[in-house]
Amino acid sequence: MPAGNTAAQYGTDRGVAPHTARYHSQTPDPVVPVFDVRGLSVFYGDNKAVRDVNLKVGPRRITAMIGPSGCGKSTVLRTLNRMNDLIPGARVEGKVSYNGEDLYAPDVDPTEVRRRIGMVFQKANPFPKSIYDNVAYGPRINGVRGNMDDLVEESLTKAALWDEVKDDLKESAFALSGGQQQRLCIARTIAVNPEVILMDEPCSALDPIATLKIEDLMYELARDYTIVIVTHNMQQAARVSDRTAFFTAGVDEAGDRYGSLVEYDKTEKIFSNPSDQRTEDYISGRFG
Ligand SMILES: Nc1ncnc2c1ncn2[C@@H]1O[C@H](COP(=O)(O)OP(=O)(O)OP(=O)(O)O)[C@@H](O)[C@H]1O
Ligand SMILES: [Mg+2]
Repeated sequence: MPAGNTAAQYGTDRGVAPHTARYHSQTPDPVVPVFDVRGLSVFYGDNKAVRDVNLKVGPRRITAMIGPSGCGKSTVLRTLNRMNDLIPGARVEGKVSYNGEDLYAPDVDPTEVRRRIGMVFQKANPFPKSIYDNVAYGPRINGVRGNMDDLVEESLTKAALWDEVKDDLKESAFALSGGQQQRLCIARTIAVNPEVILMDEPCSALDPIATLKIEDLMYELARDYTIVIVTHNMQQAARVSDRTAFFTAGVDEAGDRYGSLVEYDKTEKIFSNPSDQRTEDYISGRFG
């Protein structure tokens, strides 16, 4: 792919792609971002997997993380809701602020963090329960009172699944298709009223139609939620995201592999006129 052709390739020059990029915000970043990541490094044991990441994420927009396998996208994503706390040997250096507060301060409750900042995974992971109980589970354990039927309906509606399952709420979640299961997991995340939804390759196990459904859903959800998505699908990043962070993996003097953030900018810029040659090489398919 010749350089300079990438905007057309990824559909960022509006009107070319069937599913044209639609951005939530071209406005300047707010003074206090939702996430302000500064000098972040993440270790697994002695291995410094990710080095010196600086990143600001704005509210109610979609931020994409792209880059080759092993460059640390999932690792960085997990630092945003303290999911890495659950991995033995994982350690974080640097600072992650959430709405201006230190996410790693000693008085911060990681469980509450994970309620406010939900995560959807690559492989849909519904509980072995009914559709209804999958959605109601989180609110119940959080002691939510009020009309559970309404909450389940509202969450499934927001996840664009209600019409498909409203007559089968007592059926097992496993009876759903992969794409429906993923939307169920999104409904389950929404049901506990989060502020942010993190998604780690949420479409990689889905067919193109189910993928477009989830992308449309993400676009709708970004009216109310801040979304950060890791994706290997560059068309997807170009189609849905407002900002894109490109990570890569390098090797240091000691021969250790490490991930780092190469470039972070408006998605249009990353896919049409990136500043760094490594980004250009990656998005034009010369690398990774
Ligand atoms: N639980 C873990 N324990 C030890 N090392 C890990 C763990 N998770 C990730 N790593 C290491 O951290 C580095 C970054 O991995 P990570 O999974 O974040 O990359 P990624 O960009 O998400 O890759 P992929 O695109 O394949 O999902 C890799 O070298 C990986 O081996
Ligand atoms: Mg990953």
